Formats: sequence, C-alpha cells, structure tokens
Amino acid sequence: DTARFTLDPAFTVGEVNPRIFGSFVEHLGRCVYTGIFEPDHPTADDSGLRQDVLDLVRELGVTAIRYPGGNFVSGYRWEDSVGPVEDRPRRLDLAWRTTESNRFGLSEYIGFLKKIGPQAEPMMAVNLGTRGVAEAIELQEYANHPSGTALADLRRAHGDKDPFGIRLWCLGNEMDGPWQTGHKTAEEYGRIAAETARAMRQIDPSVELVACGSSGQSMETFAEWEATVLKETYDLVDYISLHAYYEPHDGDLDSFLASAVDMESFIENVVATCDHVGARLKSKKKINLSFDEWNVWYMSGTEAKVGDLDWPEAPRLLEDNYSVTDAVVFGSLLIALLRHADRVTVACLAQLVNVIAPIMTEPGGPAWRQTTFFPFAQASRYGRGEVLDVRVDSPTYDTRKYGETDLLHATAVRAEDGSVTVFAVNRGRTEPLPLHVALNGLDLTRVVEHSALSDADPDARNTLDAPERVTPHAVDGTTLQDGTLTAVLEPLSWNVIRMS
Ligand code: AHR
Repeated sequence: DTARFTLDPAFTVGEVNPRIFGSFVEHLGRCVYTGIFEPDHPTADDSGLRQDVLDLVRELGVTAIRYPGGNFVSGYRWEDSVGPVEDRPRRLDLAWRTTESNRFGLSEYIGFLKKIGPQAEPMMAVNLGTRGVAEAIELQEYANHPSGTALADLRRAHGDKDPFGIRLWCLGNEMDGPWQTGHKTAEEYGRIAAETARAMRQIDPSVELVACGSSGQSMETFAEWEATVLKETYDLVDYISLHAYYEPHDGDLDSFLASAVDMESFIENVVATCDHVGARLKSKKKINLSFDEWNVWYMSGTEAKVGDLDWPEAPRLLEDNYSVTDAVVFGSLLIALLRHADRVTVACLAQLVNVIAPIMTEPGGPAWRQTTFFPFAQASRYGRGEVLDVRVDSPTYDTRKYGETDLLHATAVRAEDGSVTVFAVNRGRTEPLPLHVALNGLDLTRVVEHSALSDADPDARNTLDAPERVTPHAVDGTTLQDGTLTAVLEPLSWNVIRMS
C-alpha cells in the first residue's frame, strides 16, 4: 500500500511555460467592481485599484490575465470601455443580466497589469458573438499601433501614449455553447475565426491567436468541433482553447477527487484531434493548448440565479467559498496541467477575484485568501522549469465515474538550479498514503520543505470572519536517504515536497 515512482532527468515531459499560471478577469459579478477596482476603498490607489488585492495577486504569482470575458465578451463593445470615464455609456450585459457601467475598461486593465509587475501579461479576447472582423482589427489598431492613424491617435488622445503591446488574443469565447450570445456552428465559427485571424495577422504577423475549442469535453459537438474549426484555422492560429469546471454530483466525493482524470483525458483527446488535423494537412506545425478556463465551480443553480436578475450592477455572483476538499481537487487539476506542459502552454484559472476565485473581498472591507489560493501560489512559485515524467505505481480506489483510480496523483518539476519539487495529492479520504520516490541521476541531498494542505475537517474554509482558518502546514518526517525520498501523505491532502 505504498505509492511509488522514479524521477530521472533523462525522462522529461517538457519545459513549463510561465503562461500556464495565468488567470482570468471577466466583467462578471464582483470580479472587477469591488474586486480589483474600488475607488472608494481605503486601500485604493489613484487609479481606483485596491492595493490589498494587488498584493494578494502578486503573492498568487499569476502571469497572463485573460480579459474581458468569458461570456461577457460576446456582447462587448470595446469603444464603450475607452476614453473619458464620464462619457462612457452604460450597457446591458446580456450574458449575466447585469448593467455594465464601463467605469473600468481597456486602459484600466492594462494599468492593472502594470501595477502587478512584469510577470503579468495581457490576454485579450475579441467579440466574435455580436461582432466580427472589423471590430477585432479596430481594437487591435487602437491597442497596439504606435501612432499616426485615427485609432492609434485616439488612444494617445485618451492618455495612453505607449501602445499596449497585446500579443496574445482569444478569437471569441465558447462559441460552441448554445448559451453564448451569437453562438455559432463549428463551420460558421471556423470561418469567422479564420478571417479574423488573417486580418489580425495582416496588422501584425507576430500576434499569438487562440481559437475557441469546446466549452467542455461533455459537449455533444466535442472533438468534431475542434476538427472542423482547425481545418479552417490550422495555419492561422497558435492555440485551441479548453474549458473545464468540476463539482461533486450527488455527494459523490470520490469521483470529484478524481476530476483530474477527466481533465487529463480532455487534454489528451484535444491533442489527438489537433494532431489528426495536422496529419491530414501534412503540416509540420503543432497547435498548442490554451486551457483558458479551469477550476472547481459549484455551477448547478447559477443559471437559475442569473435568470432572476433585474440588471443590477456588480451583484454577488458565482462567489463560491472553497473547502479543503475543493483545494485538493484544485491542486490535482494543477498537477494535470503540469503533467501536460509540453502541449498546454497557456492556462487561466477562472477567475481571479470574488467570482469562483482564489481571492475574496468585502466592499469597503478586507481581502483574503481562499483555500485554493495556496496550491496555485505554490505551484506558480516552485513549478518553474522542466517537468519530469512521473509514472506512478499507486494503490487505487473505486470511483463511480472513473472506475479504479490511483490514490496518488503527482508530478515533479526540476528548476534551473537542479532543485526538484514534487507536487502530489492523496485522493484517499481516510488513510495516509506512504510514498517512495527513487531519484536517479539527480544531485539531490536534502528535503528543503514538505508542505501540506489538509485538515481534520475537510469541509473547513476561509471566510470573512475566519480568513486564516485554513493554511498549509509543515509535515515532519519526510526524508531523503540513499537516493530515495520517503514521505507520508496525509489523507485528502495537497503536498509540495522541495528537494535540493
Ligand atoms: O468563468 C465563468 C464563465 O464560464 C465564463 O464567462 C464562460 O466562458 C464559462 O462558461
């Protein structure tokens, strides 16, 4: 009943692209308003950004930040979001039945990224729901062209002398979903995505473009959608997107804990589909994966709540409060992404603040870390380098959804300085899991740290009243001797074991 694997630097998956630690800010609920932006807040700076939130965003270690949606982008008029704030129109946001004030817009988003620091990168979505090629290239010209054209000079007149330099662009959002404003068939979307990509590349051939894949592996059109879209866009785009959210169904926690089994199969199926299209086109090019929405989300019921709304501004929506169990599943999803770092080169945790988020805020009050904050921050901090190929030999447990499943889910990343970090989850809810890792050809002599997130109460959470109820703790007794790492993973735990 011991789980085992071997680490050997000769066997690797690939280099981690820092963009895998991306996140997502949508005009949805309180992600923007009273989340990152609250001019009246005691910590707000002169641009209305909450400093307490900025500090936590930096600590979280996010890189690319996707914006402005999500479903919101399919009705987005970028022109509404620029220029003098007092002139910006209020609009209906059909996606979330709310009113958008446009007090926070494109320039404020770029300002927010700059305040985070150089690790933050824009990832801008264009509207291919209610709009098309013309508006996409107008936005690109406004954002990226230096000067001397009507739109570039308009940006300058609005106070942004320097171009925004947005390299990474999403061609719409979840266009396969019937809920999407301006939803399209794969053929329709493939065509508009191809023509938008072609035009955007005419402005700047170096942009990196993400075509919409499926909103989930369970979509009826899954795989056929990707194949059709890529047939039209293969030479014009760099990435195809994947979205996945997980929650327990009918109280089935064992399957919920194995959610990464679905995530890994989703990734592998999309890779197979991309490579199939590439093979048919006799192309040497590989399409990479942008897993630009992923998380635990207690989605059931959201639709009904949104349907009841009467166009409020920044209501409390999708404010899931995450437990220790949720954080362990979340950590396992991070492990799934790292295990596929060769092809998943962009990923965005959906979302950043208040809306299914690792950071929560109270209007006028504090900001705090949810349980899911910790796995993300640790993975972003220690998960940079080369992913080693981890093939586990693990005791198993039975799940309703996925059958017999490994209790251990793990990956390992070797940093440039030769140190290695193991990220591991014990999916077992009651028993500790002994772990032996054989270290071949690695110059490692000591365990720097074994940190775990687990709790006697797996339902424990951080809240406004108890913002630090759950934090990672140090685990004693983990050793490295004669080329073997020996550890015990607590029941239902996320673990970070650092060796140097
Ligand atoms: O992240 C919340 C929503 O989930 C996004 O707006 C949409 O793209 C997805 O369905």
